[in-house]
Parts: sequence; structure tokens; C-alpha cells
Amino acid sequence: MRILLTGGSGQVGSCLQSLSWPDHVTIDAPDSTAFNMADAAVMQAYLDSNDFDAIINCGAYTAVDKAESEPELAHAINDAAPGLLANYAAQHDIPMLHVSTDYVFDGRKTAPYAEDDRVGPLGIYGQSKLAGEEAVRASNAQAIIVRTAWVLSPHGHNFLKTMVRLGADRDALSIVADQYGNPTSAHDIAQTLQSLLRAMQANRQARGTYHFVNAGDTSWHGLAEHIFKRVAEKGGNAPALNAITTSEYPTPAQRPANSRLATAKITRDFAITPRSWHAAVDDILSVYIEDRL
Ligand SMILES: NC(=O)c1ccc[n+]([C@@H]2O[C@H](COP(=O)([O-])OP(=O)(O)OC[C@H]3O[C@@H](n4cnc5c(N)ncnc54)[C@H](OP(=O)(O)O)[C@@H]3O)[C@@H](O)[C@H]2O)c1
Repeated sequence: MRILLTGGSGQVGSCLQSLSWPDHVTIDAPDSTAFNMADAAVMQAYLDSNDFDAIINCGAYTAVDKAESEPELAHAINDAAPGLLANYAAQHDIPMLHVSTDYVFDGRKTAPYAEDDRVGPLGIYGQSKLAGEEAVRASNAQAIIVRTAWVLSPHGHNFLKTMVRLGADRDALSIVADQYGNPTSAHDIAQTLQSLLRAMQANRQARGTYHFVNAGDTSWHGLAEHIFKRVAEKGGNAPALNAITTSEYPTPAQRPANSRLATAKITRDFAITPRSWHAAVDDILSVYIEDRL
């Protein structure tokens, strides 16, 4: 069984490759030159010269602020490319997993978002990811769209790594305390994608949109507090953390104030129950901090 994995060098993609897979599974993870998702002709030629039994699309334009000044590139990678992949999946009757984002919501709801809640992205990144979801659905492929959030891992670019790096030599940091979400381990997302693929192969009716995030929620400030509590326990520097508002930290892209995701549906349909974000973050820190201290 041959799986096409896009975004294999990213946080989720690299975790997927480090999971253990059955012997009969081969993961083909071309880099962003061999499989440039901004170039439909390159993608099509690659697909035409290979034979795949499943697709996992972790490749994405993830620079939320930069997307505001590069809307065409964001749409090519996050919208046109998943559409092309999903059309291939539909034509070849193979399952496809597509990863999407909490930023499809506007954040005005006070409770966690369910899968069928009204979408309303606030920026180009969210708009392009939403358009990608719609393209995948329109293809009629056997596809599962997994919306996740606040992705963290010991590799790549993420908030946890930025905190540990900045905190090493600062006395104080100012962190946004009025945006709430679910910190989520890239490893746990990868495990979920692996389980979903197995379920899709066993049941060709399995498809739809699902939320997966680690359990519990917090603000960026709350997440930073937890990170530095652990850093201090391991003997590292823990700066003072000033809680600030979003308006005190202006960014090119507007972000939802509440992007908490409800996960009851994935638990109900696939018996996938996320562990707490605290446990997930502790696992990531134990790898990342040990490497640095
Ligand atoms: N990061 C988050 O906090 C977050 C939150 C919610 C949802 N998500 C979603 O979760 C998924 C995985 O995110 P992640 O954090 O693992 O992403 P990431 O670490 O930023 O990795 C993105 C991946 O996409 C690849 N890519 C970028 N441009 C490409 C192109 N033109 N052609 C082919 N590949 C390209 C990158 O390859 P190169 O390294 O070669 O550029 C990289 O492998 C994405 O769908 C993202 O939208 C992420």
C-alpha cells in the first residue's frame, strides 16, 4: 500500500513518518520542489507517474500573517492543491485525509465550535483553508477533513519553541491573554490521522468533517505559564509573563478570540479520545528542553 504524504517536512508530516506503520505500507513524502503544491502542472505530473492507494494532505501555507500579503500563493497551496488531490482521490477511488484549521471560525461563539457550526474566517489563511475544505467536499472523494489547532511539536515553527527560545535570556515577556484555543500535539494529530486512515479502509462509507485537538483549553498566556513552569522545574530561565490584550499586540492577520474545538464527534464515530493538552505539552517539552539545556 502506497500513501502519498504531502507536507512531510512539517510538524504533522514528520510525526506521521516517525510513527510505526505495517510492513506493507510505503509512505512517499516528496519535498516541496518535487511536489510543489503551488504548481498544478508539477503536482499532476507527479500524480500521473505514480500509483497511490491513499493520500494524506499535511502540506499547507501556514504563515498566517504573511498570507495577508500573499493571498494568491496561500490560495494555490491551501485551496487549489487540495482540490486537485481530492479529484485524483475521487478518480482513483482511494481515501484522502485533509488537515484543516480552527481559523475557519470567526471566534465570536462563546462555547467550543462543533463541526457544523457556521464558518467565517477572519483572514486570508482561514479563507484559503476553508476554500480547500470546500474543494475537497466538492470532489466527492472518500475524504475526511480533520480540523485541528495550535499545533506544537519539538520540530518546526511553533509557539512552544518560540517561548523557550525567547525565555532563555529575557526577564519578561508580554503574551496575549484574550485568545482561547486548544494546544495540540502534532504527534497526537499524526496518530489520529493514522487511525482514521485505517478506519476509512475498513469502512468505505467513513467520511466527513471532524475536529481533533487535545483536551482542555487555555489562552496563549496560559500556555506560556505552563511551558515556563516546566522550564523552571528543569533548571531553565522563567521570565515574568505579562498578560496583554490582542489590541496591544497588533498583527497583519486578525485571529479568532475563541477557536476552541469540540471533539465529541470523533470520539463518537471513531472512539478517538484526546488526552489533555498539559500531558501533550509535557511530552514535547521533555524532548525539546532536554535537547537545549
Ligand atoms: N501550525 C498550526 O498551528 C496549525 C493550526 C491549525 C491547523 N494547522 C494545519 O495543520 C496542517 C499541518 O500543519 P503543520 O503545522 O504541520 O505545518 P508546517 O509545519 O508549517 O508544515 C507545512 C508543510 O507544508 C509544506 N509546504 C509549504 N509550501 C509548500 C508547497 N508550495 N508545496 C509543497 N509543500 C509545501 C512545507 O514544506 P517546506 O518545509 O518544504 O516548505 C511543510 O512540509 C496544515 O494543514 C495546517 O493548515 C496547523
